[in-house]
Amino acid sequence: MSKYVFPENFVWGTATSSYQIEGAANEDGRGESIWDRFSKTPGKVKDGSNGDVACDHYHRYRDDVALMKDLGVRAYRFSVAWPRVLPKGRGATNAAGLDFYERLVDTLLAAGIEPYLTLYHWDLPQALQDEGGWANRATAEAFAAYADVVSRRLGDRVKKWITHNEPWCAALLSNQIGLHAPGLRDYRAALSVSHHLLLSHGLAVPVLRQNSPGAEVGITLNFAPTFPASRSAADLDAARHHDGYFNRWFLDPLFGRHYPADMIADYIEAGHLPPEGFTDVRPGDLKIIAAPCDFLGVNYYNRTVTRSDKVPEEENLPRTVHVAPRSEWTDMEWEVYPDALRQLLTRLHLEYGPAKLYVTENGASYSDGPDAEGRVRDERRTRFLRDHFVAARRAIDAGVPLAGYFVWSLLDNFEWERGYTQRFGIVWVDYTTQKRIPKDSALWYRGVIAANAVDEG
Ligand code: FCB
Repeated sequence: MSKYVFPENFVWGTATSSYQIEGAANEDGRGESIWDRFSKTPGKVKDGSNGDVACDHYHRYRDDVALMKDLGVRAYRFSVAWPRVLPKGRGATNAAGLDFYERLVDTLLAAGIEPYLTLYHWDLPQALQDEGGWANRATAEAFAAYADVVSRRLGDRVKKWITHNEPWCAALLSNQIGLHAPGLRDYRAALSVSHHLLLSHGLAVPVLRQNSPGAEVGITLNFAPTFPASRSAADLDAARHHDGYFNRWFLDPLFGRHYPADMIADYIEAGHLPPEGFTDVRPGDLKIIAAPCDFLGVNYYNRTVTRSDKVPEEENLPRTVHVAPRSEWTDMEWEVYPDALRQLLTRLHLEYGPAKLYVTENGASYSDGPDAEGRVRDERRTRFLRDHFVAARRAIDAGVPLAGYFVWSLLDNFEWERGYTQRFGIVWVDYTTQKRIPKDSALWYRGVIAANAVDEG
């Protein structure tokens, strides 16, 4: 059995997001978000549920922090709900909202857990959506003002800032495919959204640096390592397109390259951009977006295998196919493929060279619940995490400056359009009683953190 030891001071953490766990949706002056509106629109969320109560973390955060302390977790990645702080998105701040995050941060620090604060994990104030949302360039400026409000208050204590979580989801999944709030299906608007998200990131970076001296500032992207289904020229081209659509579209501008030229050409050809090109990009924007960062956050769940046949014409997406047997899927029907994490981290290091990387999310949905003794034997999740930790360790061996790893998620929670049907937690949540039970994977994770090592098993 091999033992994989991690570098000294490797950051072991857990991750959550505001709308998925907080609840208290109508308390203490919180404004409406696009997820409140979307989840209450019939047919949008699989089980008809919403985040009104979720894990009731807004009231139970002290217990949740104590739980993390007990597991030995060193860092906690959470997000701030913009409409809790600025109920209308801009203008008047809501003191009770800021107070909540201050209490959370102070409780974390007292427990020896470092806060990693994400500013935007998809809960845009509905008032801003009513003005066009992220398709409206003014939202980028509103975001920078929001970043200012939060970092003025917490910048002395929070020293790790993540501007955005997964702009691919906030742009394409939400505005082109329409599966997430605000549920639009408008490719051209979705591309405008992508640009304004990146612009808002670039505008916020100097604000965060100013208000939080010595802090590390970065952004989290989600990646779909893309493999062609065959070596045919058509499948290779489908893989190129998918990699551009999902990965390079965000990476390239963040790292000082323009939006990828091959994608601009594809989008013009498909009519998703006008013949003049990406007209949302104004002079100076690309420089703002490429503001140097201290780290890149990497969310990885699964890979994509593409083949050339197109799915619904209007989407112009390459078809993605499953090549693994069902036994290797999680309950999300996502393939388990740990080695793509090693390949992804190595690629990011070699092609883009971020100063530092964190895996800001990785985890698996498996429904295993408490047995007769009240124990949750989620061996599949433990195996999933172990194999991905090993893949990450191999990337470190290959020279990747990976500084930490955040397991998604601390708690079972509201999984967006799938509602409460998917359980990603290392801690079981009984949604009727709000009782928490650390699953076997959490107890195993405690051992990994204590040893700073993982056995291959
Ligand atoms: C990621 C999201 C996170 C969670 C996981 C399963 O895309 O960032 O909120 O839903 O997927």
